[in-house]
Formats: sequence, structure tokens, C-alpha cells
Amino acid sequence: MKGIILAGGTGTRLFPITIAVSKQLLPVYDKPMIYYPLSVLMLAGIKEILFITTPHDQDAFKKLLGDGSQVGCKFEYEIQEEPNGLAEAFIIGEKFIGNDRVALVLGDNIFYGNEFGKLLRSKTEVDGASIFAYPVKDPQRYGVVEFDENKKALSIEEKPDKPKSKYAVPGLYFYDNKVIEYAKKVKPSARGEKEISTLNQMYLDKGELEVGVMTRGMSWFDTGTVESLDDATEFIRVLQNRQSTMIGCIEEVAYRHQFINSNELKIAIEKYGKSKYGEYLKNIIEL
Ligand code: G1P
Repeated sequence: MKGIILAGGTGTRLFPITIAVSKQLLPVYDKPMIYYPLSVLMLAGIKEILFITTPHDQDAFKKLLGDGSQVGCKFEYEIQEEPNGLAEAFIIGEKFIGNDRVALVLGDNIFYGNEFGKLLRSKTEVDGASIFAYPVKDPQRYGVVEFDENKKALSIEEKPDKPKSKYAVPGLYFYDNKVIEYAKKVKPSARGEKEISTLNQMYLDKGELEVGVMTRGMSWFDTGTVESLDDATEFIRVLQNRQSTMIGCIEEVAYRHQFINSNELKIAIEKYGKSKYGEYLKNIIEL
């Protein structure tokens, strides 16, 4: 399975913070936002990852993440010229995906939970599509899943005025190779975007969509507004300081899942100098 991280968009809801800086490069506590979704794909065991950014932000992402060899991965970069919607990622990424399956994670989504790695690894052989549902207070901000009494999905609507349930669809999706063909058929919505919800509805219509409800033990944040960005930062700060383990530490994931060995980890540590992040990585080797 390959992975795509979509880190485009103009981040207008965070202006003026995002006028000169890409939203997905903003700090969430002690590391850039993009580290969190990247660590999610790596936890799924995915090593070939495509970053889709705006034209003017691509260099900054390349400076931060390079070719991926530092974390035992292979990173590629593509551009989304205009914010034409999430489903466009599979058209932009067509060559990169080739004949494989693909996972998409949004560059501003943060996940944390017990056994999350196991859950992710169970999705990498998906036939059809596999997405999640997460209960929230403000479903109208998201893609929303309607369920019947047996928790069978009935519909997926993008940002509905009158949501049919409280279940939002987090920005983490697993697809078989048909996603490329389906994405090409998605018609732009009223707001002019190729919506991921339309794509998911196509899979649902074909009886090929699995929707897993994320339970209480899972935490999911999107960081699209100042409030939610601040919530995510606070969450990471409190959890990390209490547990003395890091969330979204890409070198740690790479090392623990044997993408890299201790010598390679030592090389990676050099880059972080005397930062708290670098100190944390040094402890991992010493333990
Ligand atoms: C996007 C998707 C939406 C999904 C959300 C998750 O919304 O369109 O279906 O629930 O991400 O973060 P956007 O962030 O573009 O408003």
C-alpha cells in the first residue's frame, strides 16, 4: 500500500497565521503538524509516501522532510495548483499509486489511541474502501455518515446544514486501486470541490465501503480553526509530559518498526541538535 498526505489548501480560517506559512508546517506543541499524519502512515507500515502541497509551499516541505531516507521511507512530492478538493489527490497521484492500494491522510488531522497501529495495519489489504466515523459536537463542519440501527452506513454527506448523525468522517481513508477511476468521475460540488465524501458515497453505492466507528479510546483532532489547533497543542503537551513519550515522533516510529537501525537513528538525531525532540530520541537509543 502507498500513502498520500494532502497538505494543500490556503488555511484561510487561520489567517493571518497562514498567510506566509503553510498550515501543515505550523507547530503542534513541539513539532510541525505534518509529523503527526506522517507518523500515522508509517505506523500502518507504509513507506512510499507522496506529499501534495501548494506550489509555493513545496520547497519548505522538501527542506523539512527530504527524500524520506532518514526515516527509512521514500518520499515524493506533487503540487495541487488550486484547492480543487481532496478527491483530486488520486488524480494528481495516479502515477505514484500505480497498481497499488492507497491510504490518504489529511495533513491537518491528528490521531492518537490505544492499539491504533494495529487498527491501521488491519486496513492495508482493503478491497473497496475503508473509512472511519467519530462522534463530534459539530458534525456540520465535516463529512457526515448516516447509519441505520445496525450501524450500517446509509449515506455520506459533505458539510450538511442538517447533519443526519453526530458521526464525522476523520481525514484518514484506505482505498483499493479503483479509487483512481472513481476520483475521475467525481463532479465538483456547489463549493467547486471534488469532495472526498462524493467518492466515498460512490463506494457505498457499490456496497464496497466499510465504516469503522472509532471508540472512546481514540482521540481525533483536526486543526482547521484557531480553537481546534490550540486544543490539539494542549492535548499533545499534556499527554506527552505526563507519559514521557512522544506522539508523532517519526524517527521513533521508524526505529521501533525497523525502518531504520540504531546507526541510522544516530544520524537522524544529529539534525535535531539540542532540542527537546533530539534529547528524546537520544534516550530511545540509550534505553
Ligand atoms: C475535509 C473533508 C471532510 C472531513 C474533514 C476531516 O474537510 O472534506 O469530509 O470530515 O476533512 O478533517 P475540510 O478540512 O476540507 O473542511
